[in-house]
Amino acid sequence: MVLLRRMKRLSTLIILSIFLLSNSRADEGMWLPTMLGKLDMAEYQQKGLRLTADQIYSINHNSLKDAVVLFGGGCTGELISPEGLILTNHHCGFGSIQSHSSLENDYLTDGFWAKSKEEELPNPGLYVSFLIRIEDVTAQVLADTEDNMTEADREKVILKAIRQIEEEAVKGTQYQAEVKPFFYGNEFYLFVTETYNDVRLVGAPPSSIGKFGGDTDNWMWPRHTGDFSLFRVYANKDNKPAAYSPENVPLKPKMFLPVSLKGAKKGDLTMVYGFPGSTSEYLPAAAVEQLVNITNPARIRIRTKRLSLFDEDMEYSRAVRIQYASKHAGIANGWKKWIGQNKGLKTADAIGQKRLQQQEFQAWVDETPERKTKYGKLIPTFDSLYLALVPYSKAIQYFYEAALGIEAIDYALDFQSLYMKSVGGNEKPGDIPKIAASLLAGVKGRFKNYNQETDRKVCKAMLDMFFHDMDPEYFPVQYAVIQKKFKGDIDQYADYLFDNSIFVDQEKVTSFLTSYTAKSAKKMKADPVFALMQGFLRVYTSKIQSSFFGIQEEITMLMTDYMQAQREWKSDKMFYPDANSTMRISFGAVNDYSPRDAIYYNYFTTLKGVMEKIDSSIYDYAAPQKLVDLYETKDFGPYGSGDTMFVCFTSTNHTTGGNSGSPVINGNGELIGINFDRNWEGTMSDIMYDPAQCRNIVLDIRYVLFIIDKFAGASYLLEEMEIRK
Ligand code: ARG
Ligand code: GLU
Repeated sequence: MVLLRRMKRLSTLIILSIFLLSNSRADEGMWLPTMLGKLDMAEYQQKGLRLTADQIYSINHNSLKDAVVLFGGGCTGELISPEGLILTNHHCGFGSIQSHSSLENDYLTDGFWAKSKEEELPNPGLYVSFLIRIEDVTAQVLADTEDNMTEADREKVILKAIRQIEEEAVKGTQYQAEVKPFFYGNEFYLFVTETYNDVRLVGAPPSSIGKFGGDTDNWMWPRHTGDFSLFRVYANKDNKPAAYSPENVPLKPKMFLPVSLKGAKKGDLTMVYGFPGSTSEYLPAAAVEQLVNITNPARIRIRTKRLSLFDEDMEYSRAVRIQYASKHAGIANGWKKWIGQNKGLKTADAIGQKRLQQQEFQAWVDETPERKTKYGKLIPTFDSLYLALVPYSKAIQYFYEAALGIEAIDYALDFQSLYMKSVGGNEKPGDIPKIAASLLAGVKGRFKNYNQETDRKVCKAMLDMFFHDMDPEYFPVQYAVIQKKFKGDIDQYADYLFDNSIFVDQEKVTSFLTSYTAKSAKKMKADPVFALMQGFLRVYTSKIQSSFFGIQEEITMLMTDYMQAQREWKSDKMFYPDANSTMRISFGAVNDYSPRDAIYYNYFTTLKGVMEKIDSSIYDYAAPQKLVDLYETKDFGPYGSGDTMFVCFTSTNHTTGGNSGSPVINGNGELIGINFDRNWEGTMSDIMYDPAQCRNIVLDIRYVLFIIDKFAGASYLLEEMEIRK
């Protein structure tokens, strides 16, 4: 909240930058649906949009927004039938599909199709949220702030206002409300939502379709992944949210999307509606420089090592493959994204471009004495703050990725609060048994996906990296022990840790927790893994945390001013706010691209490409025989076009993580695909959108229907959809 400082002063200076843009805009931007009225809709209409801003978003009557949901907190889903049927990605439904899978019913491997509503599977904890309305509450949030307030007072006043607005917004309803800052605290918006908790699994293709290409193809084009799954929202008899009950009935949504078989041709308008998670488009050059040169290289380097060790073990052991599949996917997803991001940012010379922009900005600032006073020091201050941040930025990656990359250390950290309570003496009665019991409850699940020998190898490699790459200033005290007792032999030290710690052994940790009393803290302190964890923690808290976050705080405060200044400077430009998991719309068009000299990528892929990639000896490229048969007999039904069955296509919509599962909608408001990824170079769009190389990757809806109907034989599901030829 510190970023909220000085906002009142600024807000009074806001020059609203609500102007129509001249002729053509690049497809950059993730717009709040309420901003559409300020955009030049005529331009989109020229490009093929047949809907009005009001049909896309309205609070007075049903609009497209009513067909789009936040799915499970981190993805997007869309309603595609009057009976609450929801479409999202396979990787968004993955956890639910996995939770219903067992050796006998392996839905991950074989797919799952409920043949009737009775067979649909409930998923405790899974929810979808509908947006009821958005409201600009900037004035109310800042009403009681004053220019000469201290930072802390300002924060208090703002938080109080936010809480009050949120409370009043949902009084007497079963809605939820949240106020979020935009443009680095220059504006605030209220979001009122309605959440349904009975969401059941309806269908999913086998992973060999839904995850075809796996991590090998992830973030890459050309792509051939059938990344979709189906769920259904249930409500009580009054169509209202209710906890799971067999009495619940399918939700009758206000709105659902018709599905079009017309497909996607180059140049067709595409609209992506969804919940992008986080972007940073307005950073100064120094910030991008730090990301490209310090942060990304450090985390890529560390993860490359960890992943290679996971790979080794997953290769030779099926058990380890299952244990580490999900961890591996998560670590690899970020790792590969950062590699692509750095490539893209370098190709586009993002740092150079930002520097140039800043020079122009500085020249604009220097034009008047008022601007000079207000904004004159911003750029040089950013430069010096980011310079000061360098050592901590690197160190923080080594703590999070390397030290906590050792699963045993990460696990021991979970016990720190139990330890503190036990030695602190100021605990409330019952605290200690409560924490111990909750840790005990987690033991089984934690060790189910833990392989001690893999972690031992990771530990050796991570410690080696840590002591090799880091400034000795950040070494934990155990480093001296390694030198003295183990003669500097890190492997021997790691073996000693793993041979003597309870934190790498399910039985030992279980019995330790079962008989836990405050006195047991002694044993924890003596545990070598716990001691090393505390060693790391001490360095982190004393030498990194306050410096890193202290500087970050200053930067964030300045960003409020810098954001404001950028909007004043380009007052004829319509600014879009950074993504923050609120509902957004982005406009684009189906398009091909050329990532490098002499390389050209077509904008669509077909089933023929799946056949070309199939290699049963590589896990990621196995495909079901039935799919091969359908291809060979060209049995595509109404979904193919002659000999061609379309699979995926690329478009120019500005998207990010969270847009997974987002509907891709044509100019008529019909569903033509599901967003699920971006091209590798294009992942730079979180920092800077480059129209030449940023593409979102979309699963063609015709492939979805083909798989449901022809592959799975679940054509009854199509009957409730509105399919337009
Ligand atoms: N890259 C996509 C996203 O960021 C898909 C991730 C899931 N797939 C995977 N192979 N890890 O979420
Ligand atoms: N796969 C991402 C997600 O889960 C979307 C891809 C992206 O980051 O653009 O949201």
